[in-house]
Amino acid sequence: MASAELIRLRFLLLLSAAILTGATDHIVGGHLGWNPNINYSLWSNNQTFYVHDLISFRYPKNMYNVFEVNKTGYDNCTMDGLVGNWSSGKDFIHLDQPKTYYFICGNGLCFSGMKVAVRVFALPTSAASHTASNSSSRATSASPVPRPWPATLVALAAVLAVAWIGIGSAGI
Ligand SMILES: *[C@@H]1O[C@H](CO)[C@@H](O)[C@H](O)[C@H]1NC(C)=O
Ligand SMILES: *[C@@H]1O[C@H](CO)[C@@H](O)[C@H](O)[C@H]1NC(C)=O
Ligand SMILES: *[C@@H]1O[C@H](CO)[C@@H](O)[C@H](O)[C@H]1NC(C)=O
Ligand SMILES: *[C@@H]1O[C@H](CO)[C@@H](O)[C@H](O)[C@H]1NC(C)=O
Ligand SMILES: *[C@@H]1O[C@H](CO)[C@@H](O)[C@H](O)[C@H]1NC(C)=O
Ligand SMILES: *[C@@H]1O[C@H](CO)[C@@H](O)[C@H](O)[C@H]1NC(C)=O
Repeated sequence: MASAELIRLRFLLLLSAAILTGATDHIVGGHLGWNPNINYSLWSNNQTFYVHDLISFRYPKNMYNVFEVNKTGYDNCTMDGLVGNWSSGKDFIHLDQPKTYYFICGNGLCFSGMKVAVRVFALPTSAASHTASNSSSRATSASPVPRPWPATLVALAAVLAVAWIGIGSAGI
């Protein structure tokens, strides 16, 4: 199996999953994208991230890149706690845990502001019933507003997802 096909298939699966769960794709910087001299704290603080959302970095390939590091790496623009790196120019990253993620650009551009921290909240699903007997104020404050998705839209997304996966598999 060619790796390009595998990547394409994985991307489609990720996208379908995102559509089916009503997850959001947070484009870093919005229309400003991933560039120097932008205060990404302002962008990040203006969004709410939930588990299974995607974060995507859009930038000219070969100019910038993305590294996931820990807080030390984020604060000091170092590779401390390096978890992963991306450089496709259109990188989709699945936020699959309720925690704070830290992303920086390499090439010294982190010092020019190319760093972003995103706090990801848990979804109040089955986990909520487990902890219901011990509800804390933290759990309530972290509760996201429900995202209503019309049943028809979800059904359509399901059909499209199956079709995509079918096409992806057929090509392999
Ligand atoms: C970005 O904006 C926040 C909120 O106004 C501020 O606290 C922070 O110092 C700014 N960061 C930079 C690098 O200017
Ligand atoms: C914050 O969000 C509001 C509403 O979506 C938008 O109008 C505003 O431009 C955003 N501000 C920043 C700094 O992204
Ligand atoms: C940033 O680096 C300095 C010096 O290397 C270190 O003392 C500090 O602990 C680091 N910041 C964090 C948040 O760890
Ligand atoms: C980040 O990772 C480095 C090791 O690469 C470690 O020394 C440091 O304590 C970690 N920082 C945090 C905040 O976990
Ligand atoms: C980037 O990630 C790849 C695997 O995805 C790894 O092989 C490579 O060493 C990483 N590069 C850096 C600079 O960490
Ligand atoms: C409730 O949560 C608190 C803090 O997370 C914990 O210390 C306590 O043991 C929990 N109580 C029960 C009955 O689970």
